[in-house]
Amino acid sequence: MQHGKFIMSGSVLSNLEVREGHFLMSLCLPPEFASPLPGQFAMIRLKNRKDLLLGRPFSISGFHRHEGHVQIEILYRIAGQGTRLFAQLRMGDQVDLLGPLGHPFEISRSTKKVILVSGGMGIAPIRYLLAYLRTNRFDPAPSVDFYMGAKTADELLELDNIRPSCDSLQVCTDDCSMGHHGFVTEPLEKGLKHYPLKDTLICACGPLGMIRRLSELLVKYPVACQVSLEERMACGLGACLGCAVAVRGQNGERQYQRACHEGPVFNLRDILWE
Ligand SMILES: Cc1cc2nc3c(=O)[nH]c(=O)nc-3n(C[C@H](O)[C@H](O)[C@H](O)COP(=O)(O)OP(=O)(O)OC[C@H]3O[C@@H](n4cnc5c(N)ncnc54)[C@H](O)[C@@H]3O)c2cc1C
Ligand code: FES
Repeated sequence: MQHGKFIMSGSVLSNLEVREGHFLMSLCLPPEFASPLPGQFAMIRLKNRKDLLLGRPFSISGFHRHEGHVQIEILYRIAGQGTRLFAQLRMGDQVDLLGPLGHPFEISRSTKKVILVSGGMGIAPIRYLLAYLRTNRFDPAPSVDFYMGAKTADELLELDNIRPSCDSLQVCTDDCSMGHHGFVTEPLEKGLKHYPLKDTLICACGPLGMIRRLSELLVKYPVACQVSLEERMACGLGACLGCAVAVRGQNGERQYQRACHEGPVFNLRDILWE
């Protein structure tokens, strides 16, 4: 699903280091930027940098429409050369941006409970999804339970802002520095034993290992689940086929779909792991 994508110039409003190596960047864009749906992303490129030709994909983590301009928020961590340069951006610096791109999370109006699951930087799109669920688009609003995991307590980004928006929040850390010690799928399994599975939707984003564990777990629980996959991407436009994901076609046959175009949000049960 595409919602009017454009390449446009944006300027940096702020680029704050919220935790070591993790940044929250706000960008000011022209009002023509289409309102994104949660799960959609943007390809962002540094302006006038010949050493970084390709844009980098980032989930839309926040969005606000103001009089005369829009503001988007990108939550990111330094992973390599590109994000290291992004971290040096200052107020007023210019970027080129293409978006909103990709297929978003789809929440039907009959959904009564949404279970959010994030691992590490998977919090970026889930943060926007949570804010979206708390707007008046949903009446009655679904209840939201959040299972949020990270390696350490320090990497549980935006925790204080997220907590008041959820009906329940379970945090998990790999090093036992906060909450449940271990994978986010462990407390989730306990919860699933008590949830009504009909009219419940799980929306998840995180490392591939977490998504895979989720798919193993949900063999036992017939609950709908959509996941955002952060495949490596080059063009972001469906042209280079560099982001192919193996999925089950309508007749059960193996197919490849592009994470940047048919994804990044997929039905978990469509993904083929072998
Ligand atoms: C749809 C989508 C949304 C994304 N949203 C976010 C976001 O909101 N916040 C955020 O911090 N990151 C996000 N990413 C990942 C982000 O795009 C990469 O971290 C970034 O492109 C790395 O660029 P680089 O030049 O710094 O690192 P590179 O030098 O290109 O890579 C450095 C290291 O990161 C690894 N890497 C690169 N891309 C990915 C990837 N897609 N997934 C896992 N590992 C990768 C490489 O294997 C390498 O080890 C998203 C990716 C996709 C596809
Ligand atoms: S990144 Fe080129 S087709 Fe998806």
